[in-house]
Amino acid sequence: MSVTKKIILSGMRPTGKLHLGNLFGALENWVKMQDQYNCYYCVADWHALTTDYENPPQIGENIREMVIDWISCGIEPEKAVVFKQSDVKEHAELHLLLSMLAPLSWLERVPTYKEQLNQIQGKNLSTYGFLGYPLLQAADILIYKANAVPVGEDQSPHIELTREIARRFNFLYDTKVFPEPETMLNIYKTVPGLDNRKMSKSYDNIIEISTPPEEIPAKIRMMITDPGRAKKSDPGNPDICSVFAFHRIFNEDKLGEVELSCRKGEIGCVQCKGIVSVPVQEFLAPVYEKRRKLEQDPRLIEEILEAGGKKARVAAGETMEEVRRVMGLR
Ligand code: TRP
Ligand code: SF4
Repeated sequence: MSVTKKIILSGMRPTGKLHLGNLFGALENWVKMQDQYNCYYCVADWHALTTDYENPPQIGENIREMVIDWISCGIEPEKAVVFKQSDVKEHAELHLLLSMLAPLSWLERVPTYKEQLNQIQGKNLSTYGFLGYPLLQAADILIYKANAVPVGEDQSPHIELTREIARRFNFLYDTKVFPEPETMLNIYKTVPGLDNRKMSKSYDNIIEISTPPEEIPAKIRMMITDPGRAKKSDPGNPDICSVFAFHRIFNEDKLGEVELSCRKGEIGCVQCKGIVSVPVQEFLAPVYEKRRKLEQDPRLIEEILEAGGKKARVAAGETMEEVRRVMGLR
């Protein structure tokens, strides 16, 4: 890796198979950044436990499925460091050391904290781990001296906190160990779910990246269109139609044509869905092929994570040497 390139770090909690919302909301950005930056892509498996410690999900299986999706969508482990958080124990050490200097009030005022505490029902989240979630994230970022963090808007407060922690650390120990990472908001394409709400696993309205191409037309047939349209000859409104949002992403060339025939009531929704199914299938076919190849080798994903973990540990270890020194531990 070149030393002059900026360092990027991002992460995802291992939730299993990803969907098109994850692809066009985040993953696509990650893929594009691989050549321009030194990228670290982290499977945040410890973060998964902050909310699910009572009933740990099949984290191993979830990691495998998610990383297969990363690779089949174009993440290249030869270019980016793909690794698992729990393989780099230095993250835990830095989290601990940062906890010494992180004011409680900073953690308590992170907006996602109170929001989620109220929103997530049925789980006891009055735990240190949950309060410390963004501090662990700060450790993930700072340990690689990342210059920028590509994330969605929802994560901005966490990156902001990371900057504050970096500043406080540098000030307290009169050092320049940590750069202050900038938030790099993902460029995203909005992908509605099958029910026209935001595509989300919890709404059960997703199209998985790993969907076999032949199953795509049936999924798209289930999608909600302009609800005001009863018969084919009624003029439609593409602006409120989730199928049209798919045309925007997958059928850009014929977008104007589709829009016009919808507005004039010249095309039926069934036909319109059939049209967009074709480019969606074409798009997902090579991704599916790649997944099938990756699945044939049961060790491959483990090997990728092992190799990534090794590289990550070298970088993290170097930072920790500096951190221990300035904190008087050497
Ligand atoms: N908190 C992030 C999310 O839920 C995941 C994450 C963990 C992350 N560590 C990170 C993102 C470091 C960016 C940088 O999406
Ligand atoms: Fe949506 Fe197409 Fe039906 Fe228009 S014709 S409402 S764009 S599905």
